[in-house]
Parts: sequence; C-alpha cells; structure tokens
Amino acid sequence: MIDHQQLLKLAGSYGTPLFVYDGDLVVERYRDLFKFITWPRLSIHYALKANYNPALLRLLRDAGCGIDAVSPGEVELALRLGFPRERIIYTANNMTDAEFERVFATGVVMNIGSLSRLAKAAEQHPGMPICLRFNPDVCDGDNEKTMTGGDLTKFGILLDDADRAAELARRGGLRVIGLHEHTGSGLQHTESVFRSMRNLMAIATPERFPDLEFMDFGGGFKVPYRPDEKRVDYMEMGREIGTLFAEFCQSRGRELEMRFEPGKYLVAEAGWLLTEVNTIKHNRSRVIAGCDSGFPQLIRPVLYGAYHQIFNLSNPDGPLRCYDVCGNICETGDRFAEQRELPEIREYDILAIANAGAYCHSMGGVYNLRTMPGEVVVADGRVISCIRRESDTGLIDRIVSRERML
Ligand code: LLP
Repeated sequence: MIDHQQLLKLAGSYGTPLFVYDGDLVVERYRDLFKFITWPRLSIHYALKANYNPALLRLLRDAGCGIDAVSPGEVELALRLGFPRERIIYTANNMTDAEFERVFATGVVMNIGSLSRLAKAAEQHPGMPICLRFNPDVCDGDNEKTMTGGDLTKFGILLDDADRAAELARRGGLRVIGLHEHTGSGLQHTESVFRSMRNLMAIATPERFPDLEFMDFGGGFKVPYRPDEKRVDYMEMGREIGTLFAEFCQSRGRELEMRFEPGKYLVAEAGWLLTEVNTIKHNRSRVIAGCDSGFPQLIRPVLYGAYHQIFNLSNPDGPLRCYDVCGNICETGDRFAEQRELPEIREYDILAIANAGAYCHSMGGVYNLRTMPGEVVVADGRVISCIRRESDTGLIDRIVSRERML
C-alpha cells in the first residue's frame, strides 16, 4: 500500500496535479476475485474503460487477466500491449459498420447487443463466432447514469427477444459461443447480481444456444467511496455465484466458462489525484480551497454527485474546518467537495483525492485548455512507469497542426 508520506514525496518529485496508481493493489484485487469465486473455469476481463494506463494493463496482462473493450481504440491498445486476442471481448454499443469490420478483422470476439447488428453480422459474416449481450432486466447501480439494465437503457437485447435472437443467429449460421449481461456500475445490492445471473441463465437453453462456451455476467462490483461505507462481503457473494452457476452447468450437462468484467473493483481504490491548493478564500459563509486541478480531470463528483474522500497530506493533524474544495476551471460547479470537514488547509498544501483509479483519468478532458495530469505507477515499492503531463505548448501544437485552412 502506498502511504500518505509516499504520496507527498511523489507530489514533490513529479509536481501536481498528478495521478498516482498502486500497481500491486490492482494485481491483488485481480487475484482476490479467484478466492471469492472458486469456479474452476473463471476468467476476468478487465473493463479497460475504467483506466487505460499501459503499466497497469501490463501488470494485469502478466497476471493472466483479459480485457473488455468498448471501442476499436480500446481493442487496438489491448492488442498492442500484448493481450492475446482470445482474451479480449469487444462490447461496443451503437457501432458503425466500419467499426464492426475493423474489429472483426482482428479476430476478437464481438459482443452484439442489438437485433439489427445481429442481422447485419449474419449477412456479412455467416459462421462467425459471437457473444450476445442481453439486458438483464434488473436496475441497480450507484446512480441512475450507471444503471444499464431495465427499460430506459440503450444496452443489450431484451430477454423477451431471446427466441428472435437465437433464430437470427441460427439462420445466419452464426455460432453463439457466449451470452453476456451487465447490470450496472457500483451495484448496491448483491441480490441484483444473482437476479441478473438467473435471468440470463434462464434464456440460455441448449435448444436456443447449442454452441455456448461462456457466460459473461459483466462488471459492477462496488467498492467503498465514503469512509463509513461497508465493504461488500465478496466471499459470501462468491459462494452464491458459484452455487448458482454450478446448478446451471449441471442442468446443461457441461462445465462452461464463467466471466466477469470488473473495472472499478480492480482499479478504483488503487488511484489518487494529488493537487496543490493555491488560493484560500473566505467568502461570507464558506471557505474555498482553490487547487490546481479541476473537474475535467476528475469528473465523477460533478457528473454523478459522487463522493471522493480527500486527505490533506501536508497538514493531517490540523484542526478540522469546513471547505468547498474547488478546481481551477471557469465554472461555478467546479467542485471536488462541498462543505467538507478537513484538517485546516493552507495555501501550498497538497491534497489527495482518493478512489481516483477508476473513471477519473480515463474520463478526462482538456476543457479550458488545461492538459491532463501526469501519471505514475508504483509497484514493488518503486515507480515503474511515469507519463509526463503534456505541456500547454504540446497541446496547442496538436490543435493547430491538425487544422487545414481551406
Ligand atoms: N462491462 C460493461 C459492458 C460495462 O459497460 C462496464 C462499465 C463494465 C463492465 C465495468 O463496470 P464496473 O465494474 O467498472 O462498475 N463512469 C462511471 C461508471 C460507468 C461504467 C460504464 N460501464 C463511474 O465513474 O461511476
């Protein structure tokens, strides 16, 4: 584990804002899943969208992990970093014909989530092996924007359409080797995982899908974000998952592969965003701590109202005061935390925003033309990889050089 002293040192050596990742913790989380779920044919496909840092990806690759990719770019990155194509699944939604062909050419298995794309696949590539994504009809997630089951989402084929999907695949000679569902991110109830599994397994009859090799139950394993939030008992959850799946395989008379695709669970807690406070402002009712990062660099609080713990690394024992922790972007909503009690913050103090490993850097942007922070990965007690922050000039060069005056 990286401690607060090490974080402070890294801020000093590499400057702020800076993302720091604990590579050992990522690998530990990956291995934990095999202790929770003891199914002999379990495989984990990391949801690369959560964090595409190459050093973290290499550590996961070497540990044996696969990849859940959602764009041709993610497929390309995974292939380039040496993930074998058999260990990658492509779960795009609303893909274009060109994207479909580009990924088809790589030999990566496609996860198809609409009847119309299924019909096109049957027409263009009869005989290809595919996975079918269904909407599990279970609503759960840490907020409504990250729930993927139920009527309101664009994802997957309805369970009611299982027969139509099976028929389309059969007529087109497509081999359905996998079935998939993803219920949501940050699942609040373990029961939702079981219900989604049961719903998907219920349609997975040998008559509909005789060629089935794997069942993929998506991601969504939650981790605590608030200090008082309890950690899910994954041992217990894993036992139930194993029991459900064993019954299913027994009824089919074959031991299938079971897949999960966690993102948050593997990387969320392994990341911090370090930022330096440069301005303390006393407004009438509020004290504002203004720092050198902003919401484009860690958007979860603004987008989802997400809570991220913040630590004052420079003054951990200071008296508690209440702060609005704000960024440097020209928008009022640019806050990492509102009315948060923290040890007294002084100008030049370094803050660490916790749980910044998942969906923070990867969802980042350069609004206000502020470049994304650098990233360092620590493993075995040393920095194993560093991605420097792009300079302002580099960013401007990129913008200007792509333009052609017509
Ligand atoms: N599989 C599929 C098909 C997905 O769409 C996702 C996430 C995952 C797996 C991984 O879910 P996870 O284990 O990370 O919960 N930006 C949001 C989360 C969006 C998740 C999108 N899909 C956030 O910051 O909370």
